[in-house]
Amino acid sequence: MGTNVEVLPSQTALLERSLQLVADKINTATALHGQCTIALSGGSTPKSLYEAIAKQSLPWEKIHVFWGDERYVPPEHPDSNQGMARRAWLDKVDIPAANIHPMPTDAADPAADAQKYELEVRKFFGSAPGEFPVFDIVLLGMGDDGHTASLFPHTDVLQARDRAIGVGNKDGEPRLTFTAALINQARCVIFIVAGANKQSALAQVFAPEGDDMAYPSRLIEPVGELWWLLDESAGGNLGLATSQSRSNY
Ligand code: 6PG
Repeated sequence: MGTNVEVLPSQTALLERSLQLVADKINTATALHGQCTIALSGGSTPKSLYEAIAKQSLPWEKIHVFWGDERYVPPEHPDSNQGMARRAWLDKVDIPAANIHPMPTDAADPAADAQKYELEVRKFFGSAPGEFPVFDIVLLGMGDDGHTASLFPHTDVLQARDRAIGVGNKDGEPRLTFTAALINQARCVIFIVAGANKQSALAQVFAPEGDDMAYPSRLIEPVGELWWLLDESAGGNLGLATSQSRSNY
């Protein structure tokens, strides 16, 4: 479906455009399917977006929230992606508790928790064996090393083809993560990336030829829509015209 790339002049413009696009995709999904399934990213970049979404009037009862990755810590831990999204957004709106589907991190066994979440997600979507759930929206960020979700360079989970949820490895620290195989089944994947420290990894990700294992964001080529929303400091030097397809970049 081609890749939509937008370079926004400032972080404020990036936030406004991200809010507009996400709200639009949520409303489209609830209109088409009666519900919207969205997977959240963690890290620092999406926090202001979640705070802005909380101020919108959206059909909260029709929105099901999942996480694309999670640090292996309890929800009250400052590094928890679940904790961040609840404080910034979910605790402020009238979304049914049953619509919130956090990644489990309490088994003291990341592989067991990954399997547990895989079963929960597959049950929610009614996915048959070998079939992948199809999310309406998957939000992603990108690290300055080119990782996304918790798909870090040269880690085993990058090879996963038959699983939806895997165990990521950040310098030996376990994470739970959507696999690239699951992300690539989504109807709409939205990368939101800000900061000059992301420039060199972005250049590698957008290069026609490159090392997918060294820059895992290159593995994200969904069957549905792919959006890259970048601020000027991250994407200004890529020489990308807005909405230009990477294949003929
Ligand atoms: C996480 C994220 C991760 C994040 C990038 C970018 O749990 O850390 O899901 O993939 O999106 O590391 O993080 P920043 O937005 O903080 O730069």
